[in-house]
Amino acid sequence: MERIQKYLAARGICSRRAAEDMIRARRVRINGETALIGQSVSEGDSVALDGVLVGNEPPKVYIMLHKPDGYVTTAKDQFGRPCVLDLLKDVKERIYPVGRLDYDTSGLLLLTNDGALAQKLTHPRCEVEKVYIARVKGHPGVESLKLLADGVMVDGEKTLPAKVTVESSDDRYTRLRLTIRQGRNRQVRKMLAAVGLFTAGLTRVATGRLYLGRLKKGEYRVLTREEIAYLKSGMRRKE
Ligand code: URA
Repeated sequence: MERIQKYLAARGICSRRAAEDMIRARRVRINGETALIGQSVSEGDSVALDGVLVGNEPPKVYIMLHKPDGYVTTAKDQFGRPCVLDLLKDVKERIYPVGRLDYDTSGLLLLTNDGALAQKLTHPRCEVEKVYIARVKGHPGVESLKLLADGVMVDGEKTLPAKVTVESSDDRYTRLRLTIRQGRNRQVRKMLAAVGLFTAGLTRVATGRLYLGRLKKGEYRVLTREEIAYLKSGMRRKE
C-alpha cells in the first residue's frame, strides 16, 4: 500500500509535489473515483491520470552496482559464469544493465527497468564522461600519456581526446586515471595496448556526475532523486 502521490512519483509520472497539484485539479482517479491527497493505493487498484491508466506499470527503479571483476554484464551467460543480476537477488523488478563493463572490469554499473532512459544513455551521441582507473604494468612515459590524451588508433579509428593523469605508482605498476567520452568495445584496454601498456586491472569510478564513492565490490544502492533527475536530463554538464 502506498500514498497516491508516492505511487505516481515512483512510476516516473511526476514529482510528488506535481502529483499533489494534479490531484487538487481532480485529474487523478482511483478505481474510477476522484483521488484525494494522501489516499492509499493498494495492489489491484486502478489509477488513471486524465483518464489514462497508469497503475499497471511496475515502479521504475534505478540502481548503481559496484560490479566486481569476474562477472558478466548480461542476464545469463552461455559458459555459466556469474552474472551481475545474481548480485541483485532482492530486487523484485526486472532490471537490466545500462551498457556494459567487461568480464574482467570492475566498477560503476547502472541498472534500471526504465527502457527509454537506458536507450538514451547508451546512444552513441550521449558522450558523457566516464572515468576509469587502470593499473598498468611498468611506468608509462610522458610521450605515451600525451598519445593517449590526443587519441590513438583503436580498431582502425582514432579515439576522441581523453584526459589522462598518473594517480600513483610503485616499483612495478602505475595507476592511471583516464576520462573518456566514448564507450567502444574494450576501449580503455585497447587504448592502453596501442601505446604498449598491459592493463592488469580496470575500474570505472564515475559516469558523468555519478560516482562509485564508497560502494564496495558487489554492493549496490538505489540512486537518489537528484541522481535520477540528472540521468533524465541527459546527464548534462553543469555550466
Ligand atoms: N574499457 C574497457 O576496456 N573495458 C570496459 O569494461 C570498459 C571500458
